Amino acid sequence: MKTISAIRVLAFSMAVGQALATVTQGISDEIFNRLVEMATISQAAYANLCNIPATITTVEKIYNAQTDINGWVLRDDSRQEIITVFRGTGSDTNLQLDTNYTLAPFDTLPECVGCEVHGGYYLGWISVQDQVESLVQQQTRNYPEYALTVTGHSLGASIAAITAAQLSATYDRVSLYTFGEPRTGNQAYASYMDEGFEAASPTTTRIFRVTHTNDGIPNLPPADQGYVHSGIEYWSIDPFSPYNTYVCTGKEIQCCEAQGGQGVNAAHVTYFGMSSGACSW
Ligand SMILES: *[C@@H]1O[C@H](CO)[C@@H](O)[C@H](O)[C@H]1NC(C)=O
Repeated sequence: MKTISAIRVLAFSMAVGQALATVTQGISDEIFNRLVEMATISQAAYANLCNIPATITTVEKIYNAQTDINGWVLRDDSRQEIITVFRGTGSDTNLQLDTNYTLAPFDTLPECVGCEVHGGYYLGWISVQDQVESLVQQQTRNYPEYALTVTGHSLGASIAAITAAQLSATYDRVSLYTFGEPRTGNQAYASYMDEGFEAASPTTTRIFRVTHTNDGIPNLPPADQGYVHSGIEYWSIDPFSPYNTYVCTGKEIQCCEAQGGQGVNAAHVTYFGMSSGACSW
């Protein structure tokens, strides 16, 4: 972030608690390239990881037939990181998870006191928890100095967020990159994430919640059903570029969500010019 010049402060709105909501335009090329890399992996997860960067090795697939959660553990030796990616919605079975807005106690993470997460995604998470944890443990044993990164788009974004929360109880240096993430949990969950991933400021945050123009999925489930976003929002408008990426902090409905999109729309399926599973990058 230190390379940003001439940040333009677009808006200061009211403070909620201590979190001052700010919107600034422009991110560094370095962060922008990182967001594009993670978006590429997340969009490739719809098509068996087509065209992912050549530096990345596939370690093993994650899969549960009952929930149809699909993911992979990957490793990038050039960056010294272990990446876990989850595919977004790809079946009716996944849709049943998407539409189950019942908040479920986050029982696998008792450290997160009072936390509740999206009930459908919680079922998705517990269906692959053992696989994820044993693969990550095996990789971190072999590569103890590597950082852990979790990513995904849409349903895959929320499963990634829950996974990152869980892994952060065991490991340091977990980072989370989500694209078109639905609201994933309640206020206690959001606060736990913001604290654990140092999301009070863009200079420290390890949660990058990327949104695109008026993507309607970040507006679901509705806030009035007890759902709150976590992390810092990186809002990409078109034509996408470092300068056309806004950094939005604070808990108000602003940036992407303020555009009023609801549900799956054109903006949801395309991030940085890449459509889910299209492999045209
Ligand atoms: C919805 O999620 C809750 C919490 O995870 C779960 O108990 C319930 O069985 C789910 N409902 C359906 C219809 O799958």
